[in-house]
Formats: sequence, structure tokens, C-alpha cells
Amino acid sequence: MLNLRNLDQLLKKNLKDKIVFIRVDLNVPIKDDVVLDDTRIERIIPTINELLDKGSKICLLSHFGRPDGTNNKEFSLSKVITSLEEHLKKDILFIENSFEDNIKNKIQSSSVDKVILYENTRFHDGEEKNDTDLAMKVAQNGDYFVNDAFSVSHRSHVSTVGIAEYLPSFSGRYLEKEILMINKSLSTGSGERLGIIGGSKISTKLKVLENLTENVDKLFIGGGMANTFLLALGYKIGKSLCERSMINTANNILLNANKNNCEIILPVDALVAKDMEKGTSFNETSVDQIPPDALILDIGSKTISKISGILKEMSTVVWCGPLGLFELNPFQKGTVSVAKEISILTKNKKIISVAGGGDTVAALSQSNYNKDFTYISTAGGAFLELLAGEKLPGLEVLRK
Ligand code: 3PG
Repeated sequence: MLNLRNLDQLLKKNLKDKIVFIRVDLNVPIKDDVVLDDTRIERIIPTINELLDKGSKICLLSHFGRPDGTNNKEFSLSKVITSLEEHLKKDILFIENSFEDNIKNKIQSSSVDKVILYENTRFHDGEEKNDTDLAMKVAQNGDYFVNDAFSVSHRSHVSTVGIAEYLPSFSGRYLEKEILMINKSLSTGSGERLGIIGGSKISTKLKVLENLTENVDKLFIGGGMANTFLLALGYKIGKSLCERSMINTANNILLNANKNNCEIILPVDALVAKDMEKGTSFNETSVDQIPPDALILDIGSKTISKISGILKEMSTVVWCGPLGLFELNPFQKGTVSVAKEISILTKNKKIISVAGGGDTVAALSQSNYNKDFTYISTAGGAFLELLAGEKLPGLEVLRK
């Protein structure tokens, strides 16, 4: 139970001709005006359609990029209209100036075949400040508010929090699914849970590390952040990336994990190179044999085998952060091999697998194995904040 006011509660109301604002996240990757990954668009369609079926007028709110309160056309949501129309099988009525006179009449009189899309919410200076006047101005044109953008619910903005203070507000299907799946990967069911965390720095994922040690049975730490842990344990890591200022923190995390009966697993071997140039030569070496001039750039094959063995004993796995320098061939090997193992176990219904958080999705989508995961969250920062056990303002405002 999420304890959020949900779409079922809204659908019980008479929604005929009511204007429903839906916060969606159309912040999708675009190149040369073409949407490269439409997952975020695809996943908002059910909520929109259920509300359209009840006769309501839909008005979509979203940001795109970070225009910092300026009307910068480089960040115009006009770029997503074609993809949105294809998915909705309806035309979009694009409203560039959401403060124009008689906007409510315009929305009210728009044809039922059209879905309305406001221009980038971040073109307004007050959006990111959660400005009360702006929230009231937007809200006065609608009857209800639905948040279907989990990925931006860690932001306290007008379009996630402010508007919900002035309109009866509910969660959308996609938002609910994201939270349910992330919670499922952490909740106490039968069987053991493995957390996999990677990425370069402990400092950016400190709370996630702390919270995971309280919620999983085993935690594998890879990526650059593993180097700091190895250093804390007395290993020599050559010239590898690390955060020397975090050594005490790393030791405290190890101590706390021990208190919480969470077993921390670190790489036992690594792929090392002398530089990060394309085509650089590399070796596989044990973590107690890292040469002084070497950089650790990926986990090694013994570590991959170790994780594979552990995965076979688990019932759930939650993963955030790449395990190596996945952007540079062949240092994606660790991440891809572990993804392969998880995909096989998931397909065979041996494990529930959830992954998310910025770089993780980019790293996993280098292989096709991500398709077999139980759930891939499209959220970056919001995924991390939920894993860190934080309260997200965009969710708090939807609490019962
Ligand atoms: C994301 O892509 O993670 C969300 O759209 C949030 O974007 P933001 O970090 O610019 O708020």
C-alpha cells in the first residue's frame, strides 16, 4: 500500500468536461529533433487514456531540460509533440503561452480529440521556486491534478507540489508502478535480497549506501566507489579514481553494514589500464596486485563469477550504478555480464530484478539484457532518493 490518493479514487468522480492537469516527465533524450528513447512517453499513455475515457479534458504539464526560468526555445516541448501524438493516436493542442487570456475557455472549448500540452514549465521563473502565485494561476484553469511523473517527484516545484496544494490531487498509474516496483525490490518477502551499487563516488550515493545496508542482505559495491572501500581496507589501488576524504565514511558504512547483518561484497579482481584512451591495453589482476601506475576500470572475471553465484541464491536484486567505465570498450564487460546473468534468472522466474538511476539505464541499455529485467525505472535522481529512504515532496503532497 502506497498511501497515496490514487487514480481509482479520481475515476469515481464525474469527470465529464472536467479539466485534469497531469504532470508527466517529457524530459526525454532528443537528437536532431528526434526522440531517441520514448519509454517515458509510452508509460504515461494508460493514465491519459483512462481519464479521456471518462470524458475529461487533459492538460499535460512537463519540463524539458534546464532552461532556468527563461523562454529558451532550445528547450521547447514542441520537439516531443510528434512522438506524443503517435503514442496517443490523438492530436496535441500546444499552448505556448499558458498565461494568455481566456486560457480556461480555450481548454474547455478544445475538441475531445485533442490533448493539451503546455510549453515547458521551466520557462516560468517561478516553477523551480514553487512560487505560490504561479501555482494559483496554473491551478485556477483546472479541476484536478494528477502526478504521473515519479522521476521528477523529488523536486518541489509548482508543477509537482505547488499546484497540488490548490487542486484535489492524485497519483497516476505510472508513478504508482515505479514506486511499487522499487519498494518490492527492498521489501521483506521470502528469500534474500541483493543490492548492487556502482558509479564513481561514495559522496553522491552516501544515503543510498546507508539505506541499502539496512534493507538488503548482501550489497555488492562496484564502480569507482569500490576503490575507496578497497583503499579503506588497506589495498593499494594505484592511480585509480577514489575519494580519500571518504575513507572514514567508507569504514563507517562497513561497520554499520556488519551491525545490520548486511554482507558487503567488494571486487576481488579488476580490469586495469594505464590510461583511459580509446584502444588502451589492459590486464586482469587481483585487487591485491594492482600496479602503482594502474587505473581500475572494471570488475574482473572472478568478481563476475562471484556475483553470478550470489545471484543464484537471491530472490530480489536492486541495481543502481554501472560497475565499470562502461563508456569505454571493453570496460562495459562487468556491467553487461552481470546484466546477462540477471536477465537469465529473471526470465526463468528465479529472481525479481529492478534497476534505475541515470547512468545505470544508459549502461544497461548497451546490451539487450535490460529488456528482461522485471522493471527498469526511468527515474534518475528520484530513484536514488527513494532508495536512500528520503521523503519525496511530490509524493508527500499526495498522501492521504
Ligand atoms: C530526470 O530526467 O531525471 C528528470 O526529468 C528530472 O530532471 P531534473 O534533474 O532536471 O530535475
